[in-house]
Amino acid sequence: MNDTKELLQKIAALRLRLDQAQGLVREASAVAAGTASPAAVEEKVQRGGWHSALLDSALRGAEPADKPALPTRLSQRGARLVHRCRDLLQQLKALAEDPILPTDSGEPLADLHHATARMIDAVLRTVQTFPPSTSAQLRLSEGLEAVLDVVEERIAIIKSAMRQRSSESGRIERLADALRRIAAGQSVTVKSLEQLAGEVRDDARQGLPLRFYPMKTDDPASAAAAHGLTVAQVLARLIEGDADWHGRNLEGLVAALVHDAGMVRLPTDLIAQRGPLTEEQRRLVERHPLAGAQSLVKIWPGGGWAIDAAADHHERLDGTGYPKGKRDLHLADEVKLLAVCDVYAALASPRPWRGPHEPRTALADTLLLADRGGLDRKQAERLLRLAFYPPGSIVELDDGSVALVLAPQTGERALTQPAKPMVTVVREAIGQPPAVPRYLDLAQQGERSIVRSLTPAERRRVLGRQYPELV
Ligand SMILES: [Fe+2]
Ligand SMILES: [Fe+2]
Repeated sequence: MNDTKELLQKIAALRLRLDQAQGLVREASAVAAGTASPAAVEEKVQRGGWHSALLDSALRGAEPADKPALPTRLSQRGARLVHRCRDLLQQLKALAEDPILPTDSGEPLADLHHATARMIDAVLRTVQTFPPSTSAQLRLSEGLEAVLDVVEERIAIIKSAMRQRSSESGRIERLADALRRIAAGQSVTVKSLEQLAGEVRDDARQGLPLRFYPMKTDDPASAAAAHGLTVAQVLARLIEGDADWHGRNLEGLVAALVHDAGMVRLPTDLIAQRGPLTEEQRRLVERHPLAGAQSLVKIWPGGGWAIDAAADHHERLDGTGYPKGKRDLHLADEVKLLAVCDVYAALASPRPWRGPHEPRTALADTLLLADRGGLDRKQAERLLRLAFYPPGSIVELDDGSVALVLAPQTGERALTQPAKPMVTVVREAIGQPPAVPRYLDLAQQGERSIVRSLTPAERRRVLGRQYPELV
């Protein structure tokens, strides 16, 4: 059992015992009203003391003490607190049972969930030590209610992040399933692939952050799907609103989704391999473009761009690519653009053997490869539309403030001002959140500029509790 689950169970036990103690208060009220016998209540008070001891031990993980402690007497407001804790706890437990919630310590979402459970734990522990005076309980309750307000906000953030994660992993699984079927020679409809492509396009239209998915190393189909979706997201942001692509966006995005269909047949250990490949392994890898193209013929028997993209996405303009060493004139413009997206997405995504490259570095390296003749320069320059720091990046500005990148520049300015996206300040230079939300178009801010992206640890510190999916 992981720490969070254990903690939730202990809190549940504590909450139950507080509820039982609260039953005593109701009984006491009944005696005062003349509807219950004092002897019955006294017996329950003794049991209440024992419950308090149990309650205390539940959180310490110790056996209940033999000696009964004093009974807990809660005001109505205190009782409401306990009930609110119960409701919030149930929500946290339901979230913990969802496999979408990560359990690794250090995962921002898992840490947020655990820390939120700890907050409820702290509230219940404080309720346990409430003094008998009603006025003192009222004062304490007011403070604890404010803590529970924060717990509620955090639960809403966790739910929202899990919805996002669930939608993303659902897409990866849908595509992985389609790729498995394609590899097995089973039928997959173009419509189902277009449906997925449409979702990727709509995300880009709504300005959602680009997500660089990690590859699962235990399943080649999931790895190919995660990568295909990342490449499609990049392509969607480059062709949106481009006259050259008018009416063909979905066709392009479908090709990006399935371009590595041939990877599904690679051995699992090859996907996770850290060191250099053997000659035999290299031959296997170099076969994946043609294997992919052949498996796609069943979907597009008359040929088409998706098949060309699968076959040629590792070819290079200078003839150094594989599998055929094709050169510039033998490669379609669309395939050249997909190759650019493929290289950029691969560099900016985490791999089992290395962390992700900074988007800015990935962009610079892709442009460099184009400059050396491997990729098409004109198509590679389209990457500038993503900006050096794509939406969702958390960056430091030159005055020491921290900002969240909202959107790149648009139109001609996207190509001339890739280092000057639109941002919103999330921390002032003095380290405090801004008093009011502030939006900055860096292209209109003279010399003002981005200095760097924050490290993962810095991102977690600044925005981990607000946007766990961005860190
Ligand atoms: Fe590939
Ligand atoms: Fe690829």
